[in-house]
Amino acid sequence: MRQHRIVLLPGDGIGPEITAVAKLLLDAAGEQHGFKLNFEQHPIGGVAIDASGSPLPASTLEACQASDAVLLAAIGSPRFDALPREQRPETGLLSLRAGLKLFANLRPVTILPALIDASSLKANVIKGVDLMVVRELTGGIYFGQPKGRIEADGDERAFNTMTYSRTEVDRIAKVAFDLARDRSGKLCSIDKANVLDVSQLWRDRVDALAANYGDVELSHMYVDNAAMQLVRNPRQFDVLLTGNLFGDILSDEAAMLTGSIGMLPSASLGSEGPGLFEPVHGSAPDIAGQDLANPMAMVLCAAMMLRIGLKENDAATALEGSVERVLAAGFRTGDLMSEGCTQLGCAGMGEQLLQAL
Ligand code: NAI
Ligand code: MG
Repeated sequence: MRQHRIVLLPGDGIGPEITAVAKLLLDAAGEQHGFKLNFEQHPIGGVAIDASGSPLPASTLEACQASDAVLLAAIGSPRFDALPREQRPETGLLSLRAGLKLFANLRPVTILPALIDASSLKANVIKGVDLMVVRELTGGIYFGQPKGRIEADGDERAFNTMTYSRTEVDRIAKVAFDLARDRSGKLCSIDKANVLDVSQLWRDRVDALAANYGDVELSHMYVDNAAMQLVRNPRQFDVLLTGNLFGDILSDEAAMLTGSIGMLPSASLGSEGPGLFEPVHGSAPDIAGQDLANPMAMVLCAAMMLRIGLKENDAATALEGSVERVLAAGFRTGDLMSEGCTQLGCAGMGEQLLQAL
């Protein structure tokens, strides 16, 4: 029987509740599709600070590095807001991404037919949207040097540096081209090449790589226009390739086409080694421990992990199908509730998902 080593990182807030649902479904999917998942659970974020003083204990990072895939729920709690940045739960997540050398963040945005009315946008605009934002995660203006604040000429000045190397652009662009090839064959690269030198290098490299992907239809778009086009006519997009800053903004914008943050999965990948699969939402301290969380983003992350990380495509499709069927049957968690639907808690939604599977 095929075996996979999975590290589960439940983290803080609603993390443990939604992790329990994902584990239930993953075990069942393994049984149905002929593989076994060997789970190890480790602390990260606030729970790790409580236990050991560190938001990412060395033992957690080592277990993740030795695994086939990592499934993380969420980290963060207002209890730690007063701590300096390097001691806070968020630092655990950033250190984990760095420790696993994850440079590509994939955020799929799909409108499920049952949730067409959950979005703040009109149904005829979002109907049929199925796109993927590929965001560079470890470069660009969030990491560029020099940065800082200085006193100069009797004034105060602050600066960050937006920088990308040829190698950095090539490796993220390759991820996007490969994905586009597997999907509809359409790739749109986002930049600000009319103003920024760094965007000109970005565009040159994407154009150069396009020679290896004759089957992919490549277009370029300025980021300001892309922000507009995403809400004007999102169906025109399939794979969107962006740098770190533009991708941070555009992926949040794209996420809101769907209606609830409780539905959105993501994957962070490197060129080798395990990927990290985590919902877009945070630890939701306002509803933690009350059996109110929507576990579906986490279940869709588990599906991404099965497909991308473990090549268990049939099981991935089965998990996604269970989410669609439960929604079509009218079951909703509080964040998605509308008239005529049946409201369930996190655990109850888990039971329905398991039955649908
Ligand atoms: P959040 O995503 O945790 O919550 C925003 C709102 O969405 C809240 O009203 C929450 O109840 C709701 N929500 C989120 N996920 C939900 C789900 N699965 N089901 C139902 N409702 C859901 O973002 P917020 O409040 O800004 O941050 C809370 C904590 O989470 C902070 O400590 C923050 O640093 C951390 N955070 C962690 C992330 C991660 O682990 N990747 C990402 C974003 C925030
Ligand atoms: Mg963001």
